[in-house]
Amino acid sequence: MDRILLPQSPVIDQAVLRDRRDRFMHRLGGAAAVIPAAPLVTHHADVEHAFRQNSDFWYLTGFDEPGAVALFLPHKTENPFVMFVAPKEPSAEVWNGFRWGCEGAVEQFGADLAHPIEELDQKLAGYLEGAEGIAFRVGRHPKVEPLVLAAWAQQLDRAPRSGGAALGLVAPCPLLHELRLRKSPEELEQMRLAARISAEAHELARQVARPGLNERQVQAVIEQHFLEQGARGPAYGSIVAGGDNACVLHYTSNNSELKDGDLLLIDAGCSVNDYYNGDITRTFPINGRFSGEQRALYELVLAAQEAAVAAVGPGATAEGVHGTAVGVLVEGLLELGLLKGERDGLIEQGAYRHLYMHRTGHWLGLDVHDVGAYRLGEHPMTLEPGMVLTVEPGLYVSDRLPVPEGQPAIEERWKGIGIRIEDDVAVTERGHENLTAAALKAAVAMER
Ligand code: GLY
Ligand code: MN
Ligand code: MN
Repeated sequence: MDRILLPQSPVIDQAVLRDRRDRFMHRLGGAAAVIPAAPLVTHHADVEHAFRQNSDFWYLTGFDEPGAVALFLPHKTENPFVMFVAPKEPSAEVWNGFRWGCEGAVEQFGADLAHPIEELDQKLAGYLEGAEGIAFRVGRHPKVEPLVLAAWAQQLDRAPRSGGAALGLVAPCPLLHELRLRKSPEELEQMRLAARISAEAHELARQVARPGLNERQVQAVIEQHFLEQGARGPAYGSIVAGGDNACVLHYTSNNSELKDGDLLLIDAGCSVNDYYNGDITRTFPINGRFSGEQRALYELVLAAQEAAVAAVGPGATAEGVHGTAVGVLVEGLLELGLLKGERDGLIEQGAYRHLYMHRTGHWLGLDVHDVGAYRLGEHPMTLEPGMVLTVEPGLYVSDRLPVPEGQPAIEERWKGIGIRIEDDVAVTERGHENLTAAALKAAVAMER
């Protein structure tokens, strides 16, 4: 496969970022928003994890450094976009790498004004003056929060004297996350890139997997491909789960031997330079041949997944997509004798949940479990063009959960089979686009 090199930051077109900021500020009305970057996170002792920018901050700035804060000040006609950043400092950059500094924040990232982050304390209250409210997410940014609260307190103290309105503190999330939920053409391009690299990795994994290998040898092939293709790396802890390990939904130990006769479930996707993510699951027989039970359950999950993908389109709901998958699964489980009773009653009681215990999908974007509401009050969110969701039904047959009363005990021959099939699906004007169709999933393609 071709090696590609992705450009280093700044990676997002400035016009795109400006448009996002304009739309965000329009929604803020008279409130000012304080959006902090992610901090560096300790791995252990004095070692830090690789830096991962905060998705909200990234969406609005495209600035990939820790310890910065962006202010959005729609109440100011001049200089509404202000950044506080780590200033240039050769002695720090020689240890930890390049910084854009204040000049770079203005020239490369479109800030109207930029200051060293150390000055946030002294300048924040001034910038917030005249705003009708402060949009800041409390509870998430322990270093910035006291400064915002102090600035807020200062405004409240002055309000009686200055005659200004007392400020309210509001959450920026609903406004911003509504924007992030609907992907622009540029974002969809990045998601196609993440999907392509992730799908290729799954195809490679199926080629190398065989009895006797360790799960992590397959993980290595997948993650090597991510890096070779210029992605930042895995979007989340890759799940490479042979046999019964696949029945642990968040299995990430990836340290068991692959056994002849078992299935291998791989849930892995990459995060590209622009931070958009792929999230794909495929399941196939390690020795290249399904057993009868494995094939029966695989065909059932595939039928549920294909029906659920087909249900994605404008006007549908994620709830409806889930319902479609559950309907197919329950009917199939009844035919196989793994459930007994009447379809609708079983669905209503959730009597299938010892075999299928998670939802069928989630929003996908800058976060793997992306932001955006699933319901508006009583009503499930209606799918619209630009929204991207995963479709990932599965079946997990093990003794971990009790069989509900009245349901058949599970015969040994089914146990240790865990199957999930997951695609990333974008809603389009006319229906949907399966971004991860390049990762094969037909039963015949899973065999060799
Ligand atoms: N890989 C996480 C998920 O599928 O939701
Ligand atoms: Mn997944
Ligand atoms: Mn997923």
